[in-house]
Amino acid sequence: MADTATPKPGLQVDLSGQVALVTGASRGIGRAIAVQLARCGASVAGVARTKEGMDATLTAIREAGGTAEAFAANVAITADVNRVVEEVEARFGGKIQILVNNAGITKDGLFLRMEDDAWDDVINTNLKGTFLFARAVGAMMMRQRYGRIINITSVSALMGNPGQANYSASKAGVIGFTKTIARELASRGVTVNAVAPGFITTDMTDSLPDKIKAEVKERVPVRRLGSPEDIADLVTYLASPGASYLTGQIIAVDGGMTC
Ligand code: NAI
Repeated sequence: MADTATPKPGLQVDLSGQVALVTGASRGIGRAIAVQLARCGASVAGVARTKEGMDATLTAIREAGGTAEAFAANVAITADVNRVVEEVEARFGGKIQILVNNAGITKDGLFLRMEDDAWDDVINTNLKGTFLFARAVGAMMMRQRYGRIINITSVSALMGNPGQANYSASKAGVIGFTKTIARELASRGVTVNAVAPGFITTDMTDSLPDKIKAEVKERVPVRRLGSPEDIADLVTYLASPGASYLTGQIIAVDGGMTC
């Protein structure tokens, strides 16, 4: 049996005329989200550490007939984030309708032996980065009385995972942040939700030993690992105008692992 789902065309919603900013769009889940949003007609601003890192994603989007541009930022640095949001607004006519906070890292280790750097780097990238981008676009979304913010958390936040105290804490922080700002922004037409992927085949998980991957598969009721496209489909729905009554939710896409 294949590990990932058969590639599928992807959920189709109409996002034409909208601008979607996707962080960590150079590969993996972020790339799949960027491609899918562009296929639906959004102009995609893909953020990666370097512009060159975005080349493969831009090619995939343009081959699919979509529009996209690359922007460079370290999501953990306030000045980078504010600059990129200004650049995206200048390039795409002053408005961003969709923000996907996807950039994330792991620095795993048992917590008793965890160095401060491993804690700080993961919290700053996964949690602070999410805060910084949401803050940078939040006022504008409130003014335009429309916005879709989708944060990528993890089942590690819901279940805990040995060796990932820093990562689980950062992603649990994203959940609390999501629910809080959903309440702060709801009356202005801005929805905020989080997607919690289970075990998805990307560079982040490729390095795990085959034994661990086989064990994970045993724990997943649907008996396969997820694909980035499995996540992109839900993100696309949450990003759509039709999802206006859905906010403050944390939705696991995990083959039933946390059910
Ligand atoms: P990946 O490692 O393949 O890609 C992560 C992306 O984030 C890359 O584009 C990377 O360049 C970017 N990034 C990391 N730190 C950055 C920084 N400081 N500034 C700018 N960009 C930065 O990871 P993957 O698997 O695609 O994960 C995407 C998101 O999904 C992450 O937030 C991850 O925590 C989450 N996730 C992934 C799961 C999986 O099984 N792959 C499971 C649960 C959550």
